[in-house]
Amino acid sequence: MHSRVCILGSTGSIGCSSLDVISRNSERYSASILTAHSNYQKMFEQCKRFSPELVVMVCDKSAKMLTQLLNDAELEIPVVAGIEQLNNIDFAEHCEVVIAAIVGAAGLLPTLAAVKAGLKILLANKESLVMSGDLFMQQVKQSNACLLPVDSEHNAIFQSLPAESHSKAGWSGVKKVLLTGSGGPFLKEPLSELVTKTPDQACAHPNWEMGRKISVDSATMMNKGLELIEACYLFNLSLQQIQIVVHPQSIIHSMVSYDDGSVISQMGNPDMRTPIAHCLAWPERIDAGVEPLDFFNLKPLEFEEPDFERFPCLLLAIKAIETGASAPCILNAANEIAVAAFLAERIKFTQIAEVIKITLERSNFENLDNIDAILRVDGQARSLAETVIGEIS
Ligand SMILES: NC(=O)c1ccc[n+]([C@@H]2O[C@H](COP(=O)([O-])OP(=O)(O)OC[C@H]3O[C@@H](n4cnc5c(N)ncnc54)[C@H](OP(=O)(O)O)[C@@H]3O)[C@@H](O)[C@H]2O)c1
Repeated sequence: MHSRVCILGSTGSIGCSSLDVISRNSERYSASILTAHSNYQKMFEQCKRFSPELVVMVCDKSAKMLTQLLNDAELEIPVVAGIEQLNNIDFAEHCEVVIAAIVGAAGLLPTLAAVKAGLKILLANKESLVMSGDLFMQQVKQSNACLLPVDSEHNAIFQSLPAESHSKAGWSGVKKVLLTGSGGPFLKEPLSELVTKTPDQACAHPNWEMGRKISVDSATMMNKGLELIEACYLFNLSLQQIQIVVHPQSIIHSMVSYDDGSVISQMGNPDMRTPIAHCLAWPERIDAGVEPLDFFNLKPLEFEEPDFERFPCLLLAIKAIETGASAPCILNAANEIAVAAFLAERIKFTQIAEVIKITLERSNFENLDNIDAILRVDGQARSLAETVIGEIS
């Protein structure tokens, strides 16, 4: 059966990898809706190649530039503009599958709208789940959406967990989920050097090519913290059931350890097209354009415990899950503001953790059971984090 796919954030790293997988499997998939913030040149290239039914650009000016380019090229593709249009896409009319690949909290409302439409959702935008955890999972249940994890670690866990469905009593025979993380570019740097690290150095990930925000999150290991929260919600696991394992080569993408001593892992070259293709075709398999591992030429695989002195953001994330309520939402908001400030060279690399810590310390926590409360808490945490940056920079 042919599936029409909407890519929320098609011009980003995950969006481009998704389009690559779609183009390799064009008899099964087409790109029906593409969205971006402002990169109209890349969107124009994508329009020429994929002829979507609809394009949404958040930035008005970029939408106008794109429309001009499309008119000049005599391509009749409707372009709509603005955040309202992004948050109110009629998914059911245009697609069967939605890939949620916007970066950050901006992905929350469109992703939730896609969930409400009860479609097949491929989730890359982990921030939306971290912000809205219980509410997000309730909506998935209510709408009967099929939620599949694109994040390579969660995709690996999904592939390594028992195939039979999850019972209320938990995953039968599962001892622990082992969530792996590379440790990023600064794993072996002297601690005293971290303060000097520039945005470009933080974004130079040794194994993965990703957008700048997630690259910085990988360097601080906040990415692993967000993934820990994501894993708790996606697989209904407690914090105690998940162990973080630093694995610098990014060949094993995560593992599940069973009561009988078996450990099942998913392995592969670090390329997001593998989990994207897995989710698109699940439960079948399709070509992702990724070479299988060459075991005779692999570097030795190493594993170590995370060092919280080097990665204070990871500890802050663990504490936020333990605190529960609105703490993960506040953590996520403060992190987004701190990472943006670091990328704009307003604060040092080591001050990212400081901003998040102080923001959490100054916050009150409340249960978040509706979207207005989530957006309010997110907004307050962002202002607070900005105030903290003003004080320390
Ligand atoms: N990259 C990876 O390998 C990877 C792996 C696992 C999970 N993820 C997750 O996937 C998500 C996307 O990551 P990425 O690396 O692909 O990010 P990215 O390269 O920065 O791309 C982000 C996409 O979102 C759009 N966007 C940015 N701000 C927006 C806003 N305010 N409103 C609407 N759209 C906006 C961008 O449009 P413009 O291009 O116009 O700015 C772009 O299409 C993140 O949540 C990340 O944690 C990524």
